[in-house]
Amino acid sequence: MLGNDDWWRDAVVYQVYPRSFADANGDGMGDLEGVRDRLDYLAGLGVDAIWLSPFYTSPMADGGYDVADYRDVDPMFGTIADFDALIADAHAKGIRVIVDLVPNHSSDQHPWFKAGLRDRYIFRDEPNDWESIFGGPAWTQSADGQWYLHLFAPEQPDLNWDNPEVRAEFRDILRFWLDRGVDGFRVDVAHGMIKAAGLPDVGPKDGPQAEMLGDEQVPYFDQDGVHDIYREWRPILDSYPGGRMAVAEAWVSSPERLARYVGPDELHQAFSFDFMMADFHAKSFRTVIEKALKESELVGAPTTWVLSNHDKPRHVTRHGGLARARAATLLMLALPGSAYLYNGEELGLPEVLDLPDELRQDPAFLRRGESRDGCRVPIPWTAAPGCGWRDPWLPIPEGWAALSAEAQEDDPDSTLNLYRAALRLRKEHPALGGGTVTWLDSPKDVLVIERDPGLVVVLNTGEEPVRLDLAGEVLLSSGPLATDGSVPPDTAVWFQR
Ligand code: GLC
Repeated sequence: MLGNDDWWRDAVVYQVYPRSFADANGDGMGDLEGVRDRLDYLAGLGVDAIWLSPFYTSPMADGGYDVADYRDVDPMFGTIADFDALIADAHAKGIRVIVDLVPNHSSDQHPWFKAGLRDRYIFRDEPNDWESIFGGPAWTQSADGQWYLHLFAPEQPDLNWDNPEVRAEFRDILRFWLDRGVDGFRVDVAHGMIKAAGLPDVGPKDGPQAEMLGDEQVPYFDQDGVHDIYREWRPILDSYPGGRMAVAEAWVSSPERLARYVGPDELHQAFSFDFMMADFHAKSFRTVIEKALKESELVGAPTTWVLSNHDKPRHVTRHGGLARARAATLLMLALPGSAYLYNGEELGLPEVLDLPDELRQDPAFLRRGESRDGCRVPIPWTAAPGCGWRDPWLPIPEGWAALSAEAQEDDPDSTLNLYRAALRLRKEHPALGGGTVTWLDSPKDVLVIERDPGLVVVLNTGEEPVRLDLAGEVLLSSGPLATDGSVPPDTAVWFQR
């Protein structure tokens, strides 16, 4: 598997949120050694790569997306030697490693900000009307009266990408991690960095600016100049052997705008979040899938599918239950392109909705009343009380012992074993992650897709069981089928004709 430069095109990538994944030193926070301890689990699950959310030196004002040293590991997560050991072991097991790159902003504890190097940030005498994504104004006044821009928390000052020193620094950071062997980067807020010249006001609007994003252009996101940065980065990635890649986290207003991030001289992929935002309904899935496929045709690169990540409520809860989540997963894993899994989704974890407010740590909670902590609760490993954690940084619900990896290990119907089977079949049938999509006639509320001749995916989002004339072998189903072979509601099936 390692050695194929196009590996990312149909890869299954598993997102590790390091703080919540696995804790090797027993301090209640996950760490890199914890990830290393679980590599056999990940290899057994069948993933091609892991993406590590930030583990860099950070005061953790935004879960590590506030980086104080881009070239070191926070002591909470271990040491750079732990990182080197992790990547060596992952590669030995055939698992690639993608790291998160956070170029839009640093931490206010970054040496540049602490030293008052204002030309590397965005300081002004007067603020404009821009708002923080986390709520409230995007400007904070410093002691001498000037204001600095932070599109996220005040502890995350935006970097000034008009300054060549900022650009040089990030080219060097890329090389630092490429030299250590990373296979790729997930680029955080890839649509940020460049702001419209003169920092013009957004102007009057009805609700918070954060609600316009995705529909309308704003002067702080998706500016054309951001593409120059990727054109600077791509030759660096290409100068390393083995297919080093980058995937953009870009929230933009249309598939055409998203397509501009991807190509032979920019990034390899951009998350297509529409699939994650779709309702559990045949029609809405079809709309977003068709849109994403069109977009990938435009750029000549297959799309990336996502159902859950560290920023959105887990899809078990979003879609209304485990049966639907399992069905949506089988749909996702039978679409052409790469699929990004979020740690714990293979256990069917729901969003934790009842965390006490005083334990919530997401800066968006304090500023906007919205919290992403419920999808960041530590992963239950063992069926014993505590689920394998001592004093975890967020409490693990009691019922999760039954959802633990240990409890699911030997249950053939468990969600863990469904994911394992699906990823194994994806390897055996390359057409599942590649090939073409043909929409077959289907009853209302049902999707029927032919994937390369013979492989048929059925998803029933309606209220009645459906019987389809699909003589053939059932390769996998997300739930039990009726004895007459009909597909019950909230169920997806992979057939081989
Ligand atoms: C991205 C991350 C999110 C973070 C934000 C600011 O959207 O996914 O977790 O809060 O960027 O870095």
